[in-house]
Amino acid sequence: MSSDKLFTQFNLKNFTLKNRIGVAPMTRMSAAKKSIPRQDVFDFLVRRAKNGVSIIYTEAIITDYESAQGYPGQSRMLTQKQIDAWKPVVNDIHKEGSIAIMQMFHCGRMAWLDVNPSNRVIAPSSIRPKQDNPLTEAPYPTPESMSQFDIDHVINGFVETAKGAIEAGFDGVEIHGAHGYLINQFLSSYSNNRTDEYGGSVLKRFRFAHEVIEAVSKVIPEDRLLVFRISDWGIADMDVSLFKTKDDYQEVVKLLSKEPIDILSVSTYEYNQKAFATDKTMAQLTREMTEIPIFICGGIFDRASADEALEDADIVLSGKSLLLNPNWVEEIRSKKALKRYQSEEASIAYTEEVLP
Ligand SMILES: Cc1cc2nc3c(=O)[nH]c(=O)nc-3n(C[C@H](O)[C@H](O)[C@H](O)COP(=O)(O)O)c2cc1C
Repeated sequence: MSSDKLFTQFNLKNFTLKNRIGVAPMTRMSAAKKSIPRQDVFDFLVRRAKNGVSIIYTEAIITDYESAQGYPGQSRMLTQKQIDAWKPVVNDIHKEGSIAIMQMFHCGRMAWLDVNPSNRVIAPSSIRPKQDNPLTEAPYPTPESMSQFDIDHVINGFVETAKGAIEAGFDGVEIHGAHGYLINQFLSSYSNNRTDEYGGSVLKRFRFAHEVIEAVSKVIPEDRLLVFRISDWGIADMDVSLFKTKDDYQEVVKLLSKEPIDILSVSTYEYNQKAFATDKTMAQLTREMTEIPIFICGGIFDRASADEALEDADIVLSGKSLLLNPNWVEEIRSKKALKRYQSEEASIAYTEEVLP
């Protein structure tokens, strides 16, 4: 089914988006010692705004100088230099009539000790992923279970990073609660077997996410956006369903919809895959539980998939297609037949090759 919804405006709080297309957050691992991305990575984001994308996401920005880092060359938003480096980028995105959202994350048990300043891995529980780290080809280290001090300290990192993004001029901040990273680790009984107030029931597993959202929301001005990203899959142990059941997932969505967030960004492998042995997709199961605007991402690569994904969401995000094809927006507008990119092709993101 084809409609023109994709190229209609969308009112998101006080913003009017020119279309329903966003570039998904993509880590580029380009930052050297100062935790500032390479210029061509900045330029790429501005170019995607020039290419017609209405929402430009940063890569996942790490929230502290201690235990948050999971990959080499990640960026931070914690020093004046880091903040100032982003200001012209955000400004140039605005000049194109697009909005800029910073994603922030703590990797939790997905840490890589050699790149992590504290040389320490923390997570809700001392459970490591089953698979090896594909980058180091070694087992992930067994994490330390977080103390209350660790929890408070990590939440403060999210708050400080959000403040940095606001100072840099970003229109919104996304809390990365997906892909098996720290917040997702608390939400999932696969990685959380705590017996205190942060583990056990869905409500208790949700507590950490709630505390992060609550603390971050206090530093987000009324005219900016707060987004939460969620997924049922993680980067490690990819076949595992992190919420296990539809009821667990929907209870989390229900809890999220009571939080001060403006958007729920749902990340999938395939936007049209049926979830939790039901005949519904993740977007449909999410929509059943909330009125909050929904972003959907995963396997959207041509006009037909974008139109279909938009039936159950408000905005479509593309990762690989917008990474590799600078003309994607125009090509889906003209309904050109397009190829679907493979993950291997996206690894160009981590090289010094300048993307068009
Ligand atoms: C190179 C690359 C880096 C990524 N980095 C992030 C990231 O930093 N944060 C995040 O939430 N997702 C990240 N993702 C996942 C994408 O946001 C998106 O969910 C995924 O690529 C599926 O969308 P697609 O099928 O349109 O590519 C990354 C994906 C790619 C290809």
